[in-house]
Amino acid sequence: MTEFSMTKWSDVYKIGIEIIDEQHKEFFRLAHHFFEDCLSDEGEEQVKSTLTALGNYAEKHFRTEEAFMKEKGYPDLEAHKKLHAQFIKIYETLHTSLKNNEPKETIVNETLALLMDWLKEHIVNVDGDYAKFSKQSLP
Ligand SMILES: [Fe+2]
Ligand SMILES: [Fe+2]
Repeated sequence: MTEFSMTKWSDVYKIGIEIIDEQHKEFFRLAHHFFEDCLSDEGEEQVKSTLTALGNYAEKHFRTEEAFMKEKGYPDLEAHKKLHAQFIKIYETLHTSLKNNEPKETIVNETLALLMDWLKEHIVNVDGDYAKFSKQSLP
């Protein structure tokens, strides 16, 4: 796997709800920024601010999804919320790795890789589930 492909968006991640697909794309874009900043030896402040942007966006996205699922009466909302909380934990390990001055390559290859694996699996399987549900429950 090349590091570059790790943060590359592909249409296989589309779940068919436009606003959510756009947000997922933005997620990949922000993760890619973080990846680039790490590997281009940007200053510490820049790397931290890109990571903060990614975290803020994650929160915004999770709020959008959770409100959408609630509105649709999605039965697995609580379980889904727990998975979002898992993402925040992985995200926090990125912060810790930066604070501990771990080598940037290690951060990218281990923690960012973990975060992207989570994101892809979550989009395809878990977000995909509520998307299917919302389409079935159309009036
Ligand atoms: Fe999502
Ligand atoms: Fe989700």
